[in-house]
Amino acid sequence: MRTPIIAGNWKMNKTISEAEALVKEMLDGLTAIQSVEKVLCPPFIDLDRVASLIQGTNISLGAQNMHWEEKGAFTGEISPLMLKDICQYVILGHSERRTYFGETDEIVNRKVKAALSHGLTPIICVGETEAQYDAGETESVVRRQVEGVLAGLSAEQVAGLVIAYEPIWAIGTGKAATAEQAQKVIGGVVRATIAQLYSQATADQVRIQYGGSTNSKNIKEIMSQPDVDGALVGGASLRPAEFVAMVRITAELYQ
Ligand code: PGA
Repeated sequence: MRTPIIAGNWKMNKTISEAEALVKEMLDGLTAIQSVEKVLCPPFIDLDRVASLIQGTNISLGAQNMHWEEKGAFTGEISPLMLKDICQYVILGHSERRTYFGETDEIVNRKVKAALSHGLTPIICVGETEAQYDAGETESVVRRQVEGVLAGLSAEQVAGLVIAYEPIWAIGTGKAATAEQAQKVIGGVVRATIAQLYSQATADQVRIQYGGSTNSKNIKEIMSQPDVDGALVGGASLRPAEFVAMVRITAELYQ
């Protein structure tokens, strides 16, 4: 059985002191829940402070992005070498990185390989735009993204990944996909593509999250779907009681 994983993507929110306050409000609630893996993904500048606050707990830390090189003349970038001692996870290829910063599947693939070679677990984001959804292209778009970001990886590497299916039309819009839509793409496209590329056994090990306007009201139905193994949570992860509730509701489904 796959351990469910709920990750909070704080995006470009929270100063260091605000991050500290947010973690302190969630700490007891989150650490009390055992059966769900919890990951906090604050901005780079907050990582060190958050790491000390969650040290020794059952909460993991993730970054929101990463360069693929270890070091060098890449002004403004952060490398896997800098993250690997402090983080366990790194979000790669989020649609905001793809849309605003020109990241392609090829760039994401390079980052995935770099993360894996430094022992970081990537949370790789895929998902279609609203126009692609309306045009009925969800399946082909998501399949192409999965093939692109996984290119050249071994079955062992793929088995340990986390993939987040995030339809772009659902991100930050309050318009979450239905549980059936999430299951259809996560099971029928993401996991099915991995099964075709590797094997069913490999595909069955990959944890696949849904992301896009999740909250404590819709998480139960989404998490009840057989292929949905967790959520990548944006807005709701900045509200401590809400985020803890989402993790608790998920844990109750897995008892
Ligand atoms: P949202 O963001 O939960 O605010 O829709 C999800 C994400 O972008 O990861």
